[in-house]
Amino acid sequence: MCGIIGYNGTSDVAPLLLDGLEKLEYRGYDSAGIAVLEDGQIDIVKSKGKISSLREKISKTHAPKGDIGIGHTRWATHGEPSDENAHPHYSASRRFAVVHNGIIENFATLKADLQKKGYVFHSDTDTEVVAMLLDENDNGNFFETVLKTVKMLQGSYALGILDANDPDTLIAVKRSSPLIVAVSPEGNYIASDITAVLNHTREMYKMNDGELAVIKPDGVTFFNEDGDPILKELQHVDWDVHAAEKGGYEHFMMKEIKEQPDALRKTLSPRITEDNKIKLDDIELTDEQIKGFDRIYIVGCGSAYHVGVVGKYVIEQLARIPVEVDIASEFRYRYPLVNEKTLTIIISQSGETADTLEALREAKRAGSRTLAIVNVVGSSIASEADDVLYTWAGPEISVATTKAYSTQLSLMYLLAIRFALAKGSITESYSQELLTELQTIPDKVEEIFKLEPQIERVAETYTYLHHAYFIGRNLDYAVALEASLKLKEISYIHSEAYAAGELKHGTISLIEPGTSVIALCCCERLVDKTVSNAKEVLARGAQVFAVANEGNESVGNICDHAIYLPKTNPLFQPSIEVVPLQLLGYYTAKARKCDIDKPRNLAKSVTVE
Ligand code: AGP
Repeated sequence: MCGIIGYNGTSDVAPLLLDGLEKLEYRGYDSAGIAVLEDGQIDIVKSKGKISSLREKISKTHAPKGDIGIGHTRWATHGEPSDENAHPHYSASRRFAVVHNGIIENFATLKADLQKKGYVFHSDTDTEVVAMLLDENDNGNFFETVLKTVKMLQGSYALGILDANDPDTLIAVKRSSPLIVAVSPEGNYIASDITAVLNHTREMYKMNDGELAVIKPDGVTFFNEDGDPILKELQHVDWDVHAAEKGGYEHFMMKEIKEQPDALRKTLSPRITEDNKIKLDDIELTDEQIKGFDRIYIVGCGSAYHVGVVGKYVIEQLARIPVEVDIASEFRYRYPLVNEKTLTIIISQSGETADTLEALREAKRAGSRTLAIVNVVGSSIASEADDVLYTWAGPEISVATTKAYSTQLSLMYLLAIRFALAKGSITESYSQELLTELQTIPDKVEEIFKLEPQIERVAETYTYLHHAYFIGRNLDYAVALEASLKLKEISYIHSEAYAAGELKHGTISLIEPGTSVIALCCCERLVDKTVSNAKEVLARGAQVFAVANEGNESVGNICDHAIYLPKTNPLFQPSIEVVPLQLLGYYTAKARKCDIDKPRNLAKSVTVE
């Protein structure tokens, strides 16, 4: 997620913008820039790297002078981190300057049309298309030009826009990406979130989708998407800065758990056409190449590896291609059976995990085609893989991954459908059925949040727990792996995930009165067998918390606690099932007063072996 700030008032704007951008650094970014309007000229200074690099560049060149401007910290989605791709972006005439947070889903089409009209682009970003469109749509009236331009955009955007011919006016537009307008006696602000301006004012308007704001030095007016004026309620913010950084949540982990529906929409919707076809323009794999693979390896560490375990079940079931899943630190020393007929899928949130990066290099050395699923644009793994599919989850701050894991899952499903279509192992109509269901996942994840009080109550019973066992079969087992890691890594409870059918081959000897078992019973076709396994541990005195689908309420008759989840296609059930288990881990760690966002001994990205 990018950071936006803008100001229109009586103060020297450059220092205000830089200070505000520094307050947004917690969001994660790879480049930054500011634009200042003075005497009919817009002056942009921007730089790859941290805001300190931008400050250094300003000190070496010049400090833009003026009392109206916009600033931006970029979290790359389209285009590598670079000076050219940093925001703000000029229009061709340099009359307009734009900063943007979000994803313009139809930018490629718009860009091609503008290029046919002779527009020359200087970046790989979707944002520059907005700047050029302002030139194209310019009718001399700033507001009308903006209104016409945003009607052409599809996707998510929070925009801050300057017009060199209108030095008293800053315009902001909001759709799907957060944006606030803050007011003070010294001038008025726009920002991605209140954190950026809390040291100046606590009076703010929260913008809603489709709204535009016209910010003058002495006042703000709001309009709806048709250009009609609207009235909005001024809000006073009591949060301190730390609470503001977390969007009011106590921890980044909870913020990121709650961001999952939106992260899934941002990751999926640009890759499914309006007529329900897959659109994976980001990768160059042809049907012929896909048909040529006789094996797929999926490699990652920790949660990324767990995504691969889900991927194995889904790809093998849909595309009928043999899939091996391996832990990166094992793969790279196993002399893996990889060659030109292998596709190696590398999964990594950070794109910098040392073992995963070396596994990628090992696969490439052995002649394998490589495809990376990564969250950080321009990271090492993204740069070295033959193809890369980005999860547009935005920066993930909490060490325990949640939204990155979920968006990685969603890309696994898309790849499985893409492979199956290429192999002809599913029909086009079935793929459309799958894609229709896949697009219901974000809303179904949102429904899970209603179960939070129940989950918190179960978690409180784990406050003094020492051992926990997650059991499940098939995709439930794949989710059990992730659920167990979530619990242990932030609550420090020893936890194991076990294939439910495997318990009787040894581990059941550990079950004794009071042992906590979480039985994952969402794999419909195997639910009776998993329930039988739950009965086995109950018979030995275990406390069982069952997670099942709505309609299987009978599961609750045999255990101490049970929750029931919205159903979806069995192949996509992991995306629903993992969310209550993320919450279970969170609330257990909270009950145990652990450091949830920064667990002991752990780092967000393990860049050493
Ligand atoms: C997950 O909650 C952990 N933080 C950890 O297992 C993580 O998934 C693993 O280190 C891989 O990180 P990556 O996705 O950035 O490569």
